[in-house]
Amino acid sequence: MSDDFFKQKRVWSKYKDFILDYYLTPYLEKVKYLQKPICIIDCCAGPGSFEDGSDGSPLIIAKHIQGLYNRHVNIKGLFLEKQKRLFSRLQKNLEPYSAFVEAKHVDFRNYLDDIRSMARSSTVFLYVDPYGIKELPFSELSEIYRTIIEHNSSVEVLLNFNSAAFVRCALVALKMDRQGFDSEEGDDEESFCGAEGMSTEQMDVIAGGSYWKEIVSAPELTFLEKEEKITESYMKQMNDYFRIVRNYPVQHKYGRLPKYRLIYGTRHEDGILLMNETMYKAREQFLKEEFFDGRLFDERPLAESKDISLFATRLFEIVREGGPTSRRNLKLVAMKEFFCCYNNSDYSKTVEKLLKGFEGMKLYSRSGKPRINDDESLSAKPFKQH
Ligand SMILES: C[S@@+](CC[C@H](N)C(=O)[O-])C[C@H]1O[C@@H](n2cnc3c(N)ncnc32)[C@H](O)[C@@H]1O
Repeated sequence: MSDDFFKQKRVWSKYKDFILDYYLTPYLEKVKYLQKPICIIDCCAGPGSFEDGSDGSPLIIAKHIQGLYNRHVNIKGLFLEKQKRLFSRLQKNLEPYSAFVEAKHVDFRNYLDDIRSMARSSTVFLYVDPYGIKELPFSELSEIYRTIIEHNSSVEVLLNFNSAAFVRCALVALKMDRQGFDSEEGDDEESFCGAEGMSTEQMDVIAGGSYWKEIVSAPELTFLEKEEKITESYMKQMNDYFRIVRNYPVQHKYGRLPKYRLIYGTRHEDGILLMNETMYKAREQFLKEEFFDGRLFDERPLAESKDISLFATRLFEIVREGGPTSRRNLKLVAMKEFFCCYNNSDYSKTVEKLLKGFEGMKLYSRSGKPRINDDESLSAKPFKQH
């Protein structure tokens, strides 16, 4: 796959790159106040740019680092690439950034000790973007997560998990029918599962357990349902290391199997608020391209439209059932259900509607004002005035 992969950036990769690029700006602006060195590690870097001239993740990341480095922030980038030929291109592409980035010709799985020692003193953002699933053994990744967390509280990960390929390879490993896989050019089975296919033991290592067997062999589940359940279970494993784990399905066409899932893990609430905004924007862009561009009206399906009535009802119920809470906490709870479906402005406006009274529902703010900030408490009953 590697020979073709870097000729031209794939259409759907723009969403992956958009998410990385967009998120890094507010993320770096926040973590620079932690007053610790910042390190961004691109574990599967590739050559840095594509033959069509577009930037790969190393250049996207290096440009962000440059912005902060020029403002005297202690920040560096570490780019790991195991293929010699690609590494040489990477080194060349990163030359203009050599004051604050380092490229290493290594397999990231053999670089654990160095990552560990770096993590002792730094805020770490890990980007893991392999070709498929073969290069994504959960046990080794979790070793990275564990060691970083042992030494440091600020670590985030953005990971490309090819969940459809996982199900495909798991069906091969279990010698089951592979029907339902949304195969496209370049997505041949061999490139995902290797010429020999993968054994059940190899699948256990990638999954971080054997939970996948029950899901993949369930006769009542469609391919798509298996893909969703595998993603859910994989994310649950990550919850042992990251308090909040969410995913964004990167799609080529609406309604088709995701090409892959971008899984994001963080231990900090601010991270999820920023990532919700980022992934919301990517989703809106995708829906606009699918259902609006070149048409007179936005023809997106009802299921993809915002339903402010339903949204307000859920926000109201969360406060009524959970008791008084800050607007920030309300957002965090609601985002479990509505991740990347509503943006910050939707949350603020809907809470404001509820504070004024909306469709028979009413919330109260401690200050009594309808325009509030994230720290203000909200309740379904009036606050006692002293
Ligand atoms: C999908 S490409 C990465 C593309 C890159 N993120 C970009 O946006 O330009 C995967 C790259 O990771 C490299 N790779 C795969 N497994 C690796 C490992 N264990 N350690 C280091 N590099 C690895 C591959 O050689 C390949 O260049």
